[in-house]
Amino acid sequence: MTILGIETSCDETAAAVVCDGRTVLSSVVYSQVPLHQPYGGVVPEIASRSHVEKLPGVIMQALQGVVGTNSASSEARPDPKQWNALDAVAVTYGPGLASSLLVGLSAAKGLAMRLGKPLIGINHIEAHIHSVFLSPDAPAPSDLFPFLALVVSGGHTCLVEVLSTGSYRVIGQTLDDASGEAFDKAAQLLGLGYPGGPAIDRAAKQAARRDDYRFPQGRVRHGHPLVSGHLRAELCCSFSGLKTALMYQLHAQPPSGPDAVHAIAASYQEAIVGALADRCDRALRATHYGALAVGGGVSLNGRLRERLQEVAGRRNVRLLLAQPRFCGDNAAMIAGLAGAGGGVRGERAFALDVVPSLALDTDTTKPPVI
Ligand code: KG4
Ligand code: ZN
Repeated sequence: MTILGIETSCDETAAAVVCDGRTVLSSVVYSQVPLHQPYGGVVPEIASRSHVEKLPGVIMQALQGVVGTNSASSEARPDPKQWNALDAVAVTYGPGLASSLLVGLSAAKGLAMRLGKPLIGINHIEAHIHSVFLSPDAPAPSDLFPFLALVVSGGHTCLVEVLSTGSYRVIGQTLDDASGEAFDKAAQLLGLGYPGGPAIDRAAKQAARRDDYRFPQGRVRHGHPLVSGHLRAELCCSFSGLKTALMYQLHAQPPSGPDAVHAIAASYQEAIVGALADRCDRALRATHYGALAVGGGVSLNGRLRERLQEVAGRRNVRLLLAQPRFCGDNAAMIAGLAGAGGGVRGERAFALDVVPSLALDTDTTKPPVI
């Protein structure tokens, strides 16, 4: 199966062609970061307008086998043979920003109809989990079921039992801010710019110590009203108190210079990374998962990778990390998951609407009941 994937759930316009769920023939990502930088966060209307403008060029580049970032020229026209080589079109239909998702879903429906090919609707979080399999030497997902997955991004932070492709149980999640959001907000408060995750990661690397400042570890008490379904309180986290603690810290004692900023960034990062590593460790303690798979933009964090290596070593499980180019939002993970049999298919896919708060704790091969 050769599948064209389209991803426009937030501020990356992406298209990719993937063969058999794992061989990436092309992957083009047009990042809108410079457009949103002046505002310190994603502005939904700017995002959707930019998707409308860039998506055709990004798709054409993907069809021509381009691998790269921010090359959305629409001058190149694919040969009709390249369209014919596609077996299906896959697209993210949630979760994400409604106006951004609509651009990708509408384009994918139009393309699939025009080409007379199947359409496959994909859950973005599920695709982040699949991103670890986008490599010819990665194991097949079916060899690892059930495994544990940690998805850490700007919009999501959850710990998931992957029972099979399309069958998931969310056993832990943040009850407020996502881990990426916690990084972004801290970077803003520290004047380190946007996006904040890479900035904090860099600043923390320059600190001499990681324990100069104390930040809360985001524990969640048993019986918390938001802990329901398969969620377990000890596997959940809360990051909003962390940001408040940083604000108080900065008011009480403004950093005296770059060294102090680096030290605060390192301690703050340690609190987030420590919370995530602790939740994975607890989830792996009394179970027999075949692996720990980690996806999402925050999985680029150097210290998180280090801490998760330790946890995986201690619990004797295989750690699967996505290649750096597939950690953030991309369309290869969308086409890849579709090629592995995931997503909503058949006539139901053509009837899909966007679902901005699409959950994972369901059978993802069926459209959600809204
Ligand atoms: O997966 P992603 O590209 O988009 C979403 O689905 O949200 O994740 C973006 C998030 C941002 O919050 C960004 O600050 C964070 O990933 N991020 C990082 C790093 N690189 C990106 N966070 C921590 N350390 C990094 N090196
Ligand atoms: Zn994402």
